[in-house]
Amino acid sequence: MSDIYPVNPDIAAKAHADNEKYLEMYKQSVDNPEEFWGEHGKRIDWFKPYTKVKNSSFDGDVDIRWFEDGTTNVAYNCLDRHLEKRGDQVAIIWEGDDPSESENITYKDLHQRVNKLANAMKAQGVGKGDRVTLYMPMIPEAAVAMLACARIGAIHAIVFGGFSPDALADRIKGSGSKMVITADEGLRGGRKVPLKANADLAMDREGVESCIVVKRTGGDIDMKDGRDVWYDEVTAAASADCPAEEMNAEDPLFILYTSGSTGMPKGVQHCTGGYLVYAAMTHEYIFDYHEGDVYWCTADVGWVTGHSYIVYGPLANGATTLMFEGVPNYPTVSRFWEVCDKHKVNIFYTAPTAIRSLMREGKEPVEKCSLDTLRVLGSVGEPINPEAWNWYNEVVGKGNCPIVDTWWQTETGGILISPLPGATALKPGSATRPFFGVEPQLVDNDGNVLEGATDGNLCMTTSWPGMMRTCYGDHERFKQTYFSTYAGKYFTGDGARRDEDGYYWITGRVDDVINVSGHRMGTAEVESALVAHAKVAEAAVVGAPHDLKGQGIYVYVTLNAGEEPSDELKKELVKWVRQEIGPIASPDWLQWSPGLPKTRSGKIMRRILRKIAEDDFDALGDTSTLADPGVVDELIENRQNRQ
Ligand code: WTA
Repeated sequence: MSDIYPVNPDIAAKAHADNEKYLEMYKQSVDNPEEFWGEHGKRIDWFKPYTKVKNSSFDGDVDIRWFEDGTTNVAYNCLDRHLEKRGDQVAIIWEGDDPSESENITYKDLHQRVNKLANAMKAQGVGKGDRVTLYMPMIPEAAVAMLACARIGAIHAIVFGGFSPDALADRIKGSGSKMVITADEGLRGGRKVPLKANADLAMDREGVESCIVVKRTGGDIDMKDGRDVWYDEVTAAASADCPAEEMNAEDPLFILYTSGSTGMPKGVQHCTGGYLVYAAMTHEYIFDYHEGDVYWCTADVGWVTGHSYIVYGPLANGATTLMFEGVPNYPTVSRFWEVCDKHKVNIFYTAPTAIRSLMREGKEPVEKCSLDTLRVLGSVGEPINPEAWNWYNEVVGKGNCPIVDTWWQTETGGILISPLPGATALKPGSATRPFFGVEPQLVDNDGNVLEGATDGNLCMTTSWPGMMRTCYGDHERFKQTYFSTYAGKYFTGDGARRDEDGYYWITGRVDDVINVSGHRMGTAEVESALVAHAKVAEAAVVGAPHDLKGQGIYVYVTLNAGEEPSDELKKELVKWVRQEIGPIASPDWLQWSPGLPKTRSGKIMRRILRKIAEDDFDALGDTSTLADPGVVDELIENRQNRQ
């Protein structure tokens, strides 16, 4: 039996939904999605109202449309429609890496900045349907650039600032971006990140036409004549009046590259109308956001969490959203809590990996802050272990802030499974129940539907407004990746358990994706980086349990004939992967392996490699189908000797 934390009646009384209301709304949302979403689609303003609500099929060609004859604009919904009522309200609280730097940006101010940048982008020849790559630090200009794209109908593709020049170049190429927006340097934990220098390498490789550069640190960088312009200069010269482009509900809003089990990252494409409705509605109900709340999501805009729950959801709701440039342990390990006190944060949303690393520092850095404004806590990105959940609940939430453990994915656009603060009794480690309109299903490996309390592969049987529409430029890949494993269903790639109360417990990826500190990494990407090294013949990568990161990257490397393993070479290979992909892909462990366990048809048996990395030598399963079973003994021996 797991612990159960009942709903706090005071929170339920004021919340958007108590349990009864949740059950009623959920029932309506699945019994009659047309009526439910037809009503809730009105939470955003439409230029031309929709007459059709849902039109989607997970069969055949997989065609997903919501509100398909409606037109609107995302930036209009996040800015213009708030001006009359809350023009002087703070839209973005920006907290710099250095605690002495912060800034409040009102809706009026944000609107002006977005319009100016939008006009400056137009002047550079960017228009509706063009792709723009953003490679930005966590500064207000990142949100301004997203909204400026949305305003003119350009499609943004954000690349996390920790990715290498090559990874950036691949994404610029994949999205066919003609413009890049970046900054001279980023600043994180007191250290500078050479964004423009990295972008130069990528832009030179891809022949990018234009680049707008924000001056963040004033560091010394190269500006290429005819291509690079300063953000300050072009926006100062631009008009603050830029009409919002009329977009169809199904027009793309952004592309975001994410790792899958095979090949290079996919361009997950999200749309305008359904995405915004879903991001805004989940933000309001799941965080129980109320007028006047200060809301802080600690993610980076380079990930989907930053898109939906720092920028689009909160701003569509007219919220005050906090954007943080820094890291949890700079200048001290009290930083998160100091920021909560400084800006009177009511809703705080972070990742288990951050909680685990702060938990290690003990209670004292938390307890010296008051945290008395906090009301709701959130978790995202990976399963939260009960120990971290309890610490979050007791030490940070003082036992009276509900924790919403939100399960979702880049592909889903918004949260699919999560408690609602006033409705759901909590069980530490469970993402609990589906949001409105979400119909999860567990299936076995043959696709048989499993009922009741059971373990299985997590699928969705029907679409919700916020889900991705296609892989950019490759609809076939979209169909193959998500709808072919179990015909007619969206397969999430996650395993889950459903308990006797119908609560879902996400058990982690069942494919070759690993989750390192809440960041998604494809084992294939790391492998292809390794084999690109001149001394490496073969490599296999698996995830292995890691105290802080949740999962760490465990690599098995076979060297070319004539190459000798050494500690130096280990270091060189780790450095190589960092350079090829970025620091987030740094291998945590590297084991030399004279050979890899393969089937007779040449497929690497990762199941065995995972078990060896976990020191679980008795659970290797059947090794008789291996081409050379002797390889396994050798790997175990090397592992035991930590070679
Ligand atoms: C994992 C992040 C357990 C999961 C929003 C999923 C989680 C992948 C949770 C998506 C959670 C995310 N509990 N696992 N609350 N949230 N995951 O695309 O494996 O970066 O498939 O989206 O993270 O990662 P992504």
